[in-house]
Amino acid sequence: MDRRTFLKVAGGTAGALFMGTALSKSLIQQALASPSPALARYQDPLPVPGVVSPVGKYRGADLYEIRMSQFTQQLHSQLAPTTVWGYNGSYPGPTIEAKVGNSIWVKWINDLPQEHLLPIDHNLHGAMDTPDVRTVVHLHGGHVLPENDGFPEAWFTPGNSATFFYPNKQRAAPLWYHDHSLGITRLNVYAGLAGLYMLRDSIEDTLRLPGGKYEIPLVIQDRFFNDDGSLFYPPPPWEPELFADTILVNGKVWPFLSVEPRKYRFRIYNGSNARFYNMKLSSGQPFFQIGGEGGLFPAPVKLNEILIAPGERADIVIDFSKHKGQEIILTNDAPAPFPMGDPADPETTGQIMQFRVNLPLSGFDNSSLPPVLRSVSRINEKTAVKVRDLTLEERLDKEGNPIMLLLNGSTWDDPITEKPKLGTNEIWRLVNLTVDTHPIHLHLVMFQVLGRQPFNVASYKAFKEANGVNPPSVDPYLTGTPSAPSPNEMGWKDTVRANPGEVTRIIAPFTDFRGKYVWHCHILEHEDNEMMRPYEVV
Ligand code: C2O
Ligand code: CU
Ligand code: CU
Repeated sequence: MDRRTFLKVAGGTAGALFMGTALSKSLIQQALASPSPALARYQDPLPVPGVVSPVGKYRGADLYEIRMSQFTQQLHSQLAPTTVWGYNGSYPGPTIEAKVGNSIWVKWINDLPQEHLLPIDHNLHGAMDTPDVRTVVHLHGGHVLPENDGFPEAWFTPGNSATFFYPNKQRAAPLWYHDHSLGITRLNVYAGLAGLYMLRDSIEDTLRLPGGKYEIPLVIQDRFFNDDGSLFYPPPPWEPELFADTILVNGKVWPFLSVEPRKYRFRIYNGSNARFYNMKLSSGQPFFQIGGEGGLFPAPVKLNEILIAPGERADIVIDFSKHKGQEIILTNDAPAPFPMGDPADPETTGQIMQFRVNLPLSGFDNSSLPPVLRSVSRINEKTAVKVRDLTLEERLDKEGNPIMLLLNGSTWDDPITEKPKLGTNEIWRLVNLTVDTHPIHLHLVMFQVLGRQPFNVASYKAFKEANGVNPPSVDPYLTGTPSAPSPNEMGWKDTVRANPGEVTRIIAPFTDFRGKYVWHCHILEHEDNEMMRPYEVV
């Protein structure tokens, strides 16, 4: 039975019989494992999203107008055009080029149809008695006022708009904007609602990193397709993680990029719902990571492979100068779910895109990879006024299937418990009780990773079972030796991988703005099913 036939059956009464049982789970997984239409790799050139221009001025600052709509776009030359959602008629949306010190306004206009493109699970929080088509845009990594942050409940329906102010008073960094509507973020983003926001500054310009046509964003996502080219997202019941079989970069299935034998700078975004990528170059060559979510590192970090979770970004430089004439594949070997799941299929999800070093050098490569990039002063742990232990948990049904994920045992609607004081630093210890790595993202702030340490999950859980509450501190449960963040986690970050069986410590300065923000797991299926909590700077 192929995926489509199965799902047709599962959608009918036969499906209801299986629903919620272990049998249905494995059948669904089997069906999902059957492929989207086979699409030849490296047929289409990598597109680069266009840059959007302001439409005028508003209160002295540039004003942009960005319209969400439904349209069709060719995602692979052998695939019928796909109906997607996007911004200004493009998936991914157009790139906003912003400059530190120049604030901007964006009028986000919802021009979507009344009917959702994908099947909604009305049992999830926020999706029970609300309109199907709702949007609210969040600037991921942005340091903005709460009313402009895209609070998940601040959604608006077709025919409406919201105008948000972005101060751009923060470090130059690869930000991105994407939908954040409560309970349907995974569907809105999967339909195409994401785009880039490159925040730059003049300090970065002086470094002479590869720029212009030698600086290219790579937004990596996975999707399922039906034979008619339409997007497929599994209908309810809720899938704990969406792992699709076809990889897209900048909205193209397995694209290629022709390059010159010289240095390039790639701004990599993991824009997938749930899939992690552990990437290498098939040429075996090393590359340099120069920055992460919060901007440039103090110095380039030489890597042979790089792991990137949903929501994370990596700024890398690849030197093709010694690889003239070669075809180099960017590969992926991250298991899904990460880290204990199925291995990537070398023929499909194990490949991301291809670099063809087939262009003549158009001029001397005078870009540089300076040994010193941008200072990052480490926050002293002792400045933290508060240490919070926050658990990452999974709730299972009787058959052992996950039914929801929780932060600190609380749901979205529970009263706010994290209330950092304005102007203070806090340490958050993410205590992962599950078997998966969760990429934990905080709005408003850029933070630093302090390190990780294994702990005794079983006895921590036993305390909880016996007492109904978490242990007052994770300290007595810590085992083994603490590990420092890896060299490419030493910059400012807004998303951190919290691994199973470990306590991950971060330190965050809560500055400038008071009010309600959110923190959540950036696996969008988790975020949509309770793994998101409001927090309030007071
Ligand atoms: Cu990229 Cu709250 O998200
Ligand atoms: Cu965010
Ligand atoms: Cu998660």
